[in-house]
Amino acid sequence: MQDPQLLDELARQEFATPCYVFDPAVVAANYRSLKAALGTRLVVSIKANPELSLLLRCAHEFVDGIEFASVAELDLSMGRVNAPKFANNPSMDAQFLRGAIAAKATIIVDGLDHAERIVKAKGGRPLPPVVLRLNTAALIGASGGRGLHADHFGMDVQTACAAVDLLGRARCEVAGIHMFGGSGHFAARHLQVLDALPAALAVIEARVGAPLAFLNLGGGFDRNWAAQDIDFAGYRRRLEAFRRYDLAHESGRAVFQSAGWFLTRVNSVKHIGGKAYAVCDGGISQAFLLCQTERFTKQLQAPAMVRAQAGTEPRRFDGPIAFVGSSCSSADVIGALPAGSTLPEVGDLCCFDNCGAYSHTYTPSRFLSAKTAGIYIRS
Ligand SMILES: Cc1ncc(COP(=O)(O)O)c(C=O)c1O
Repeated sequence: MQDPQLLDELARQEFATPCYVFDPAVVAANYRSLKAALGTRLVVSIKANPELSLLLRCAHEFVDGIEFASVAELDLSMGRVNAPKFANNPSMDAQFLRGAIAAKATIIVDGLDHAERIVKAKGGRPLPPVVLRLNTAALIGASGGRGLHADHFGMDVQTACAAVDLLGRARCEVAGIHMFGGSGHFAARHLQVLDALPAALAVIEARVGAPLAFLNLGGGFDRNWAAQDIDFAGYRRRLEAFRRYDLAHESGRAVFQSAGWFLTRVNSVKHIGGKAYAVCDGGISQAFLLCQTERFTKQLQAPAMVRAQAGTEPRRFDGPIAFVGSSCSSADVIGALPAGSTLPEVGDLCCFDNCGAYSHTYTPSRFLSAKTAGIYIRS
């Protein structure tokens, strides 16, 4: 449940809804605390929240670097980000490659084809050292580890060695390794990565013919990583074996998610059977993830409510209350309150927390030409 002071502040600002409010101070605090817990560099995945007005206020915090997954994201950084840049996307085309080279970004090599494209884009010019992405599930699978969702990112060790040869022939230096085993996997699986890495590093370094300098161990931290039972002190001790490398991790949601709120207003209230529906001015077309269409079992968020008619007596409702959006899609259900909650009224403000990552840009917004959510920065 949300801080009443914050709710009061959000209500007093009378933002035009639907909208997001992002707080750069929370982003900065999240970044610093996760970096301290890990005891390594922390690269920020800007895909989690590429909002320029937020980036302008936070970029100076992201001292260890930013990971860009598209040429448009990279464009955002131009002239605004001094920290190291990492360009990472298996579908990186010639335009993205040229942008990454111009931005002096470190390119994460995702496959053999990709390595060929890099060599072609480089032409005869020098290129900053590149980093090879290893497929995390293949890596831990090769050493008997289990339970990591297989995905299409990166290479197995054998392919990485072929990429070393190809890049070497083009005088392209390989400086390190990158891994990312998927969102949310850190607590359960990350030690398996450390178990599997030494053997893979030995093979790749032998192929490069020199020690590597940089190791990005990935991430997959939940937004509430601090409340999970993770032994960070033990993890840092395990990292000691890798201290000869410049170590980094990478995160998006743990940095941004708790730094954003989605605000929408109740436009109408109706009853069907024993259930009440608060129809809001925003929903799936502005805050896709709230509908949890990507989950097997939904646990819809309970919004914090600010009443429009503060002086009137709140009315309790015996049945469940659903908060639905404005899109005409039956999947457009963004929140729920249990039976016995206060019945929303027209004009009430619904405030959903933890909406700072994969929010406005992770939302298909063309259906019904829906109004896009406004963006406000908390100061
Ligand atoms: C390579 C890579 N790094 C980092 C991230 C960020 O993930 P999260 O926001 O869960 O930290 C992603 C997410 O897709 C990713 O693909």
